[in-house]
Amino acid sequence: MTAVPNITLNNGVEIPQLGFGVFQIPPEQTREATLSALEVGYRHIDTAEMYGNEKEVGEAVRESGIDREEIFVTSKLNNGYHAYDDALHAFDQSLKDLDIGHLDLFLVHWPLPGVGDYVETWKAMEKIYESGRVRAIGVSNFQPHHLRRIHGETSVTPAVNQVEIHPYLTNEEVRAFDTEHGIATEAWSPIAQGKVLDDPTIVRIAEGLGRTPAQVTLRWHLQRGDIVFPKSVTRSRVEENFDVFSFELPPGAMADITALDRHERTGPDPDEFNHIPG
Ligand SMILES: NC(=O)c1ccc[n+]([C@@H]2O[C@H](COP(=O)([O-])OP(=O)(O)OC[C@H]3O[C@@H](n4cnc5c(N)ncnc54)[C@H](OP(=O)(O)O)[C@@H]3O)[C@@H](O)[C@H]2O)c1
Repeated sequence: MTAVPNITLNNGVEIPQLGFGVFQIPPEQTREATLSALEVGYRHIDTAEMYGNEKEVGEAVRESGIDREEIFVTSKLNNGYHAYDDALHAFDQSLKDLDIGHLDLFLVHWPLPGVGDYVETWKAMEKIYESGRVRAIGVSNFQPHHLRRIHGETSVTPAVNQVEIHPYLTNEEVRAFDTEHGIATEAWSPIAQGKVLDDPTIVRIAEGLGRTPAQVTLRWHLQRGDIVFPKSVTRSRVEENFDVFSFELPPGAMADITALDRHERTGPDPDEFNHIPG
């Protein structure tokens, strides 16, 4: 089986650099999709309360027969629970729904700058971390100016910042800030939900290497040092996305893909997104 490299987080915890994302997998398909990914060899699953499939991820982890310690599971605090006590309760609920003992990583899903104070939310995350029921805590969709406040007003540095990154949104400023502060960057929607796969530059590089556009794009992320978790409910793609450790992109191909940046988001702008589920 292919060895997926680990990245060491700022508190010493190790996370597999390639995982499996379950956003937009309906709950009724999630158990089977997650079991399938675990069978292929994935040992890192990225879910969230917002995705409505934590229970099914937990079922798959329990039923897989794989040691709990060998699987890295991330979940996220949903947008309606930013107040201090709400965040504590929401974590308890996620842990109960997952039913896998501890969580490996818990993230604040969005900063919601127009809603409340994400610094207060982060203080609740610190309290959760102190309880020992999660191995690392982090944030998602935080811009450098949000992180600067966390850094200045609290004591635990986020282990991870999970943000949208792909060849059409290379997000260099956030990545540079993360690196400078010892925060690992996770790239969500790593293939831009499929939008980059027919890009002529990516297709040309893929053809030259005898690889697929998805493999070339994932390889580009991995060689930049980011953590990725592509989503697919298609077994052949789940296998294809895992088969990215037996080739390398030459520096020219890396630069050509990075040059595709056009600041194009597939998701909302974190500075403007303040949605709370009804
Ligand atoms: N923190 C956040 O705010 C946030 C936001 C979005 C996503 N995420 C995380 O990031 C993960 C990945 O992002 P994502 O699900 O938005 O998008 P993605 O992984 O970039 O793309 C998924 C889409 O690409 C297709 N696909 C996957 N592999 C393929 C391949 N080899 N060839 C062709 N098509 C392929 C999938 O189709 P099929 O499934 O039909 O095969 C699906 O439509 C999520 O699952 C979630 O864990 C986090």
